[in-house]
Amino acid sequence: MVSTLCYIILPVVFIIGLLRKCREYSWGKCRNVKNLNGRIFIVTGANSGIGKETAKELAKRKATVIMACRNVQNVRKAIAEIRTEVTSGELIPMELDLASLKSIREFATQVLHEFSEIHVLINNAGVYVPLKEQAFTENGFEVHFGVNHLGHFLLTYLLLERLKASAPSRVVIVTSKLLESGTIDFSNLNGEKGLATEGRMNPSYCNSKLANAYFGFELAKRMKGTGVCVYMVCPGFTYTGLFRHVKRSWLHYIIFSPIALLYLRTANQGAQTVVHCATNFSASIENGKIYRDCKLYEPKMKLDPEVAVKLWDVSAKLTEISDFDTAGLAS
Ligand SMILES: NC(=O)c1ccc[n+]([C@@H]2O[C@H](COP(=O)([O-])OP(=O)(O)OC[C@H]3O[C@@H](n4cnc5c(N)ncnc54)[C@H](OP(=O)(O)O)[C@@H]3O)[C@@H](O)[C@H]2O)c1
Repeated sequence: MVSTLCYIILPVVFIIGLLRKCREYSWGKCRNVKNLNGRIFIVTGANSGIGKETAKELAKRKATVIMACRNVQNVRKAIAEIRTEVTSGELIPMELDLASLKSIREFATQVLHEFSEIHVLINNAGVYVPLKEQAFTENGFEVHFGVNHLGHFLLTYLLLERLKASAPSRVVIVTSKLLESGTIDFSNLNGEKGLATEGRMNPSYCNSKLANAYFGFELAKRMKGTGVCVYMVCPGFTYTGLFRHVKRSWLHYIIFSPIALLYLRTANQGAQTVVHCATNFSASIENGKIYRDCKLYEPKMKLDPEVAVKLWDVSAKLTEISDFDTAGLAS
């Protein structure tokens, strides 16, 4: 018994621990500890997972963070939890439901009224819902397309003038490497023709993450010369509540646990590239690009500039952006 422990179990645990440490090293860490006092950040979906850890990291650096969440009680609870570890910075709870165009407009109006400057907008919130649940937003959009892409599109659009006036400023868009499995089919953006419900990955989620990348790509182009930079981030495979709607068997968890031990980041590790792109104002990070592991990431496919323009126009139409909203926007 003792010899089994010494010769088999301990070496296996040691090797797994060592491999995990090597992986953690390769994930990178935001080294920027600059004082962010006076800088105003908005983080959507900041009550849990990567968003909450991002807000915590920014508060550590003394920033003012507007935590934009759909449930104010949950965000207050998150703030209380952060405050047990971090006492610096300012954490402001505000209500924002990205599944409702009305809520997005109300949030933007309130922010523009209360804050004369916005330095960094972090579009982090996201949903992953099994397709068989056929979930839709308040305005009838397929939930991934509606929340992950359209909601953030409208929010960013409404705050752009203030971001420009606060330059140097930036927009950080949390996407995913899964964008590489996505497609933008303009005849099926909302799942009108149906979406494949079989298979391992949720195609609608992947499509929404590709839409995030196209939005960032086009936004960076339109913001050239304004002092507003745009970064897209893949946080890596992270242990959060994102997949809470997906039902898995206990067998799946047993098979999956060694992989999780090696590949799954903590929420704080997942937040590192987001914080890196949100706080690193040096010229070393390239505008309009995707980042992962705190460094530049080249996706397997090229983004088509024509698709980016078309998606922008379609999104503006679907979110009912008017001439009044667009006043002064560079094209
Ligand atoms: N976890 C990963 O492995 C992974 C990998 C790649 C990319 N990402 C991306 O990382 C981002 C953060 O996700 P996470 O992993 O931290 O998951 P999470 O813990 O589930 O956080 C998602 C956040 O989004 C919020 N949210 C969902 N629907 C919303 C709505 N309609 N309006 C406003 N907020 C809404 C959630 O609020 P509630 O708490 O109220 O639901 C929650 O605060 C997402 O964009 C996700 O796509 C995650």
